[in-house]
Amino acid sequence: MSTARITVDREFVVGPVPRRLFGSFVEHMGRCVYTGIYEPGHETADEKGFRHDVLELTKELGATVIRYPGGNFVSGYNWEDGVGPVDQRPRRLDGAWHTVETNAFGLHEFVEWSALAGTEVMEAVNLGTRGVDAARELVEYANHPGGTALSDRRIANGAKDPFDIKLWCLGNELDGPWQIGHKTAGEYGRLAQEAAKAMKFVDPTIELVAVGSSGRNMPTFGSWEHEVLTHAYDEVDYVSMHAYYQEHDGDATSFLATAVDMDAFIEEVVSTIDGVKAAGKHRKQVDISFDEWNVWYQTGLDTDDQPHNVSKGWVEHPRLIEDQYNVTDAVVVGTFLNSLLRHGDRVKIANQAQLVNVIAPIRSEQGGPAWRQTIFWPFARMAALARGEILRTVVTSDKIDTPKYGDADLVDVSATWDEESGRVAFFLANRGLEEAADVEVALRGFAGARVTRAELLTVPEGGDRFTSNTEQAQDAVGLVPLEGISVDGGVARLTLPALSWAVVELEVGTA
Ligand code: AHR
Repeated sequence: MSTARITVDREFVVGPVPRRLFGSFVEHMGRCVYTGIYEPGHETADEKGFRHDVLELTKELGATVIRYPGGNFVSGYNWEDGVGPVDQRPRRLDGAWHTVETNAFGLHEFVEWSALAGTEVMEAVNLGTRGVDAARELVEYANHPGGTALSDRRIANGAKDPFDIKLWCLGNELDGPWQIGHKTAGEYGRLAQEAAKAMKFVDPTIELVAVGSSGRNMPTFGSWEHEVLTHAYDEVDYVSMHAYYQEHDGDATSFLATAVDMDAFIEEVVSTIDGVKAAGKHRKQVDISFDEWNVWYQTGLDTDDQPHNVSKGWVEHPRLIEDQYNVTDAVVVGTFLNSLLRHGDRVKIANQAQLVNVIAPIRSEQGGPAWRQTIFWPFARMAALARGEILRTVVTSDKIDTPKYGDADLVDVSATWDEESGRVAFFLANRGLEEAADVEVALRGFAGARVTRAELLTVPEGGDRFTSNTEQAQDAVGLVPLEGISVDGGVARLTLPALSWAVVELEVGTA
């Protein structure tokens, strides 16, 4: 049996839980929009074509903010194509995913769908093929109350009230050679600075995300952030991070420890931001928007002419990267969420990519059902229960020896304390493939703890670490009660089975 001891203290907080950490992403890619959130004629669709089965699952997932409309897609997208009477919208070729875009779904539809889902809109502008003008015009169209050509056009298109979109991305992954309109850091830094200025002239209340590196392994990682921020530090509020991970060559042990890489990546970007801040004698703080992260099995994809797979012909909404997630992936996703939460003093926004079908927690079939993938569960529970303040966690754990990352804690954890509800929540993962872990949690500064929730995701009976939820077996992997937890004298004791993720919520008093 392995062991781990976790200590938290009510006085030792990282900061408030940024609710935008539980974001998601809807891109015009594959079947995320079409036959995902939008499918006119589906038996659950309303008169707007919004699928209510997917909408209900989105609410249950608890996503707080959703990035739209891309992704690589946005770098060749004209926002004007997606507004106005649907029958007059142009069909276009989308070069990013080699897809025919009908534009049946656009900005108004996304804003309306978001209102139903209860999610904040995070809108990306095209800084690939377009620039300052299109970006500021979109802000005026969306956010200006009326009395100008663009805002009156929004009103004429059916939206009397401004959309009041606060969060904007200044393009997407422009450091990547695959991106339409790929740029050097100098080219992008100046463009982002000028676009940001012009957008804030239209609406000074907006918050802006500058494009950071598409991954820690990009050759320009570090220098890209440094140069972009050297130009645009004063104008932007966040810099983006993107990271996708997968299991390589059956090395599950390293895969289970990849949050170690995520931790390091975040800390490197924080250092880079703060270096620019010091050198430029800036006073304000720029934070991080980790606006694409997930498990994504990229190995084996068609890489003939692009790094990501694309459709084989010019078709509408082809199946693209519909990864089927298993138990191992769910545990890893739990550790990614832990990493994001532990860094919640600087990572203020995070978006799991994507919401439906495309590397997503929710799957749907055209004319068929919608269901939860395994990775749905850690996200849904953390989005619901991580409230109040993030607690610092001090962990003494047995280690796993990983080929890629060396020694990593066997038990990974994050914790929150919500004074209002009087609840402390722990989100735990046992990365061990073979052994259960006995865990002791010492609660300092709290009194009279009582367990209000203890749930577990692990290998189901008769299954293995590759077990997934499918259309035929939609609930093969889910949450089950975590049995045997006890609390005594300010210490909670529990056992995490091998390869598991768990949530434990305690009602506490204050000492
Ligand atoms: O989420 C899928 C794609 O991954 C996005 O379009 C792009 O930004 C990233 O490379």
